[in-house]
Amino acid sequence: MSEPVLEIDDLTIRFNLKRGTLTAVDGVSLSISKGETFGLVGESGSGKTVTARSVMRLIPTPPGEIASGEVRFEGKDIYQMSDREMRELRGQHVAMVFQEPMSALNPVFTVGAQIGDALRTNMGMNKAEAQERTVELLQLVGIPSPGSRLNSYVHEFSGGMRQRVMLAMALSCDPTFLIADEPTTALDVTIQATILELISSMIERFHMSLLFITHNLGVVAHACDSIGVMYASHLVELGTKDEVFANPQHPYTVGLLNSIPRLDVQEKYLTPIDGYVCNMMDPPPGCKFNPRCKQAMEICQREIPDWKEVAPGHFAACHLHSQQ
Ligand SMILES: Nc1ncnc2c1ncn2[C@@H]1O[C@H](COP(=O)(O)OP(=O)(O)OP(=O)(O)O)[C@@H](O)[C@H]1O
Ligand code: SF4
Ligand SMILES: [Mg+2]
Repeated sequence: MSEPVLEIDDLTIRFNLKRGTLTAVDGVSLSISKGETFGLVGESGSGKTVTARSVMRLIPTPPGEIASGEVRFEGKDIYQMSDREMRELRGQHVAMVFQEPMSALNPVFTVGAQIGDALRTNMGMNKAEAQERTVELLQLVGIPSPGSRLNSYVHEFSGGMRQRVMLAMALSCDPTFLIADEPTTALDVTIQATILELISSMIERFHMSLLFITHNLGVVAHACDSIGVMYASHLVELGTKDEVFANPQHPYTVGLLNSIPRLDVQEKYLTPIDGYVCNMMDPPPGCKFNPRCKQAMEICQREIPDWKEVAPGHFAACHLHSQQ
């Protein structure tokens, strides 16, 4: 792989709430190269969205706080950037497809007006150029008769179409880096597959890097070069997709892999991971996965496991590896 575009280095993000402090992201480090597609996987509440939003500097502070660490885009610390540099980054380099399309698209403006506005602000186009490009973008993401949909409002589109509109909006700034946060969860399986294919083809066509967020490890099997697995604010495993799938090293990753529906295995033989994600306001001491882990040892309840390189470029944070 070529040089890193995005580097997240020992990032810790807390929310200081009335009822206490919640650590949403704890010491997360990862790096994504030019043209690489990276899947960030984990159950609900593990800190995926907070990690992604930190890249766009979209963590509300307060109550949020970047307690430590750095996020660098093309070598530049984004938390040291001026507001102008940050607007440039968001408008011309990094784009995000948000988890909730309705919260990211404005219900009171037409789709044409919203995408057109982004094109005029970020790409310096005039009204006619922006309209022409909007139609092209809507066509690119598979909206039928795009010219006639310019004056439609977001609520007039179906769930899958809204995701396409969000993708068109994200692509409007010709980004070099795309963040797609659970772009398919609210959709039925067939539409999920088409949206994923669409994102993959855009990534290839425009040579973008991708940070793809999902709770479903099965989804990243198709879409990603590398995988990071998050559990309760920690990154617990990191490596190439091939290596992580062939040789998972963290019991949580093994659990996720065993719970992926497969064509060759009947559904009744799927083994979901026992128990629930811990309460993030009051996580267990030691390895946060220990109450659910069948291989937990005494040390797991006391000490947070260190990050170990288990094979070249393949890392896991589990005491099983300190024992070897
Ligand atoms: N603005 C906020 N204020 C307070 N707590 C927050 C805020 N945003 C996120 N959190 C908390 O941070 C933790 C991580 O949340 P995050 O949204 O990153 O999870 P996620 O992995 O994206 O989950 P999901 O798969 O459900 O989208 C959660 O416990 C969540 O409640
Ligand atoms: S550190 Fe211990 S509890 Fe945590 S995953 Fe490894 S074996 Fe299980
Ligand atoms: Mg999320």
